Amino acid sequence: MDNITINIDGKEIETQEGEFLLNAARANDIFIPAICYLTRCSPTLACRICLVEADGKQVYACNAKAKDGMSITTTTENIEKERRAIMEVYDVNHPLQCGVCDQSGECELQNYTLEMGVDSQSYTVKDVDRSSHDWGHIHYDPGLCIVCERCVTTCKDMIGDNSLKTIPRGADALDAEYKAEMPKDAYSMWNKLNKSLIGLTNGTDVLDCTSCGECAAVCPVGALVDTEFMYKSNAWELTQVPATCGHCSAGCQISYDVKHTSIENPEDKIYRVMNEWNYVSLCGAGRYGFDYENAHVTKDETAFANAVAAFEKADAIKFTSTITNEEALILEKLKEKFGYKLINSEAKSLQTFLHDYSDISGTRLYGSDLKEMMNSSFIISVGSALKTDNPNARYSLNNSLTVNKGAGLYFHPVSDPIIDGLGKNILSINHKPLQEETILYLILDLFADKEQLPSEIVDYLASFHSMKTITVTETIKEKVVEIVKEMKLNKETGEEEEVEVEKSKMVPKKVSKEVEVDDNKLLEMLGAPENFGETLEKFLKKKETFSLVVGPDFYNHPNSKNIARLVALIEKYSAFTLVMIPELTNSLGVALINELSSEEGTYTVGYNTLADFTLSALGNGDLDMPSINQQEGTLTSINKRVNPTNAALTYGGYELNDIANALGLDAELTIDYTQELPTAKGFKAQAFDDLPNHYTNSGEEMRGYELKNVKRRIGSNEEVNQIDEALSLENQLIYLANPVRQFSDFTNKTTQLDEVSGIYMSEEFLNDSEFNEGDSVKVKSENGELVANIVSDNKIAGNIVIIPSFDSKLNSEALFSGYRFASASIEKV
Ligand code: SF4
Ligand code: SF4
Ligand code: FES
Repeated sequence: MDNITINIDGKEIETQEGEFLLNAARANDIFIPAICYLTRCSPTLACRICLVEADGKQVYACNAKAKDGMSITTTTENIEKERRAIMEVYDVNHPLQCGVCDQSGECELQNYTLEMGVDSQSYTVKDVDRSSHDWGHIHYDPGLCIVCERCVTTCKDMIGDNSLKTIPRGADALDAEYKAEMPKDAYSMWNKLNKSLIGLTNGTDVLDCTSCGECAAVCPVGALVDTEFMYKSNAWELTQVPATCGHCSAGCQISYDVKHTSIENPEDKIYRVMNEWNYVSLCGAGRYGFDYENAHVTKDETAFANAVAAFEKADAIKFTSTITNEEALILEKLKEKFGYKLINSEAKSLQTFLHDYSDISGTRLYGSDLKEMMNSSFIISVGSALKTDNPNARYSLNNSLTVNKGAGLYFHPVSDPIIDGLGKNILSINHKPLQEETILYLILDLFADKEQLPSEIVDYLASFHSMKTITVTETIKEKVVEIVKEMKLNKETGEEEEVEVEKSKMVPKKVSKEVEVDDNKLLEMLGAPENFGETLEKFLKKKETFSLVVGPDFYNHPNSKNIARLVALIEKYSAFTLVMIPELTNSLGVALINELSSEEGTYTVGYNTLADFTLSALGNGDLDMPSINQQEGTLTSINKRVNPTNAALTYGGYELNDIANALGLDAELTIDYTQELPTAKGFKAQAFDDLPNHYTNSGEEMRGYELKNVKRRIGSNEEVNQIDEALSLENQLIYLANPVRQFSDFTNKTTQLDEVSGIYMSEEFLNDSEFNEGDSVKVKSENGELVANIVSDNKIAGNIVIIPSFDSKLNSEALFSGYRFASASIEKV
């Protein structure tokens, strides 16, 4: 888009050609009232309050596009009349219950009613029965609903569940006189509003969605609220603690909204999590999984002395990636001082993968991020159970499909009804496990610049192609001659007589013919549908920006080195930009900061993982540690940002920094290490207190800083191995992944995330098998075995059984050799 200049209320501003006027105004701190519009979503024109005059014509600022030299007036006498009438309409039959409404104090209906000076009511219509609905974690009160449809829009355009829609209200028609009397836009808005309410797309009163809570977050009034939060607090009583979600690598911006627990207990408690929903969308874990703090901990001096002694005795420290960058740096400094082996197999796999990738790319990190992915128009996902590995990656895919009219390919062995439900422009290919190299070769084949690609690879790709003869049916027009009888005048006799005449016409006819076509064996190997070529051709029409997202299935793949190199080649020789999904919250930070070992120690201190001596923020170890929501520090996200997070709750115990100080390091606070994070790896020498944590009005992310993608000197070797066709997994397949809303022991600990631990099977699988939900089964692979109960999961399909890792007591990893798929036997016990 080109930079242009427009004039709003006499102020010259720079924007981009085609930008919505509302966004251009907001980016320049110019206020235009708007209710229904959500940044990043398609305008719906439900509220019409954003009326402005552009070059003398009344337009809606949320969907009118900026043109060079445009002159905009945000308020005219007529627009003021419209806006006031719109707000009066919104107030028709709105119950007077602000005193007990959850939204009071942050309600857009209250705010705009005051802003527009509504102090009387000119309109009436008979009300209808609008009783409340309990939709599980969401409560809908249609009595409060202003039918702005923001809930419907975010669920469709951002989240992709499409669980909400407008339904008939069943109200009387508006008084006919209003049409003539009322301001035009206010009448049209009311006429539509008076016909609708919000309901569920599944036609029931049971909300069966991925439970993200975004619909309640964006609701401008108290109509959709979180059931647990309802009637718990007024907005003005809550203190907002700016933070970063600690559950997955998306590192979403959040605020923990806290206040005292009760009159008797002045200690702070988190009541809800909010977000800047115009710019970031949370998943259910981020929204509802907030009470995982290590509560009621005091300084246990004996346990602390034991911890220091354990560090003095240990030769290894084992830890998970749910720690801050600063804690990772403390561990690294302790390693340098005492020679510990630092063990974190999950981050080590990512580290190795990045290293192998950078041998070809020449950069330490992948080039793109989720924002770029969201703005692209063609996306391929490989090697990730996208919706649960990183819900924000799923949202980016969905947003590209819905708002950018994008298209995409989703390669994964586990079929996923949520991904398939994103629309008809996404094609899922449920290939076999261990075929990831084949997919990457297919992407090179379809999209790489063959002039630039190393010739050995071009020759290898050509070896999969041959010509084959196929029979195609086509419809042709054929001339048919008919003899018809007609009455004609016989000029000689002067009488009418019947004669036969020839008449021809063109009729359609189906014919078969044999044609020679290109046969791509890679497609056959992956089990791609017959019409793949046609579908792809259709998908690629008018597509200009391409994103590839890859995930944790790759990092422990038996051929991960080759896979990393193939991924780098795609990024280098095609138009695809690249994002990698780090498996856990701070896997990327740990992979950059720590020198990790593959060897076990003889005496090991564990941090959030059981070992000879265990430090635990879960409260189940030998010495308590603070959880992420009790700490200040930074987390490195999938977007390669170093995001600050703050302590929502107090913590009374010892921290890793106290142990480090006892062992000879010297820092008053853990965040003293923020400015020491390694600049050679792309971090900045910036103090914690100098890190911003907000979005600007134009949507610019001012959160911490972006890592520098440090260059590496590389050789010219771009060799890759051919597809390893010997690799395969047979029989019953199991896959290590989590259900929606669960990531780790921390999400498992929270009260509102009620997914139970167990073996997850699709409804389809259960119907075709001898198993039932709740059965206790033994799952046995060549690596290990476990016993657990079956959980039925309607958010997966097909026959692959999911073994979750969010409950470490299940010891799921023991079934796998590293790669996330394995063969197993499952039997009832
Ligand atoms: S429930 Fe809230 S967000 Fe949805 S239409 Fe009603 S007022 Fe708008
Ligand atoms: S909770 Fe999320 S997925 Fe469910 S209806 Fe609301 S926005 Fe849609
Ligand atoms: S914000 Fe433009 S029509 Fe609602």
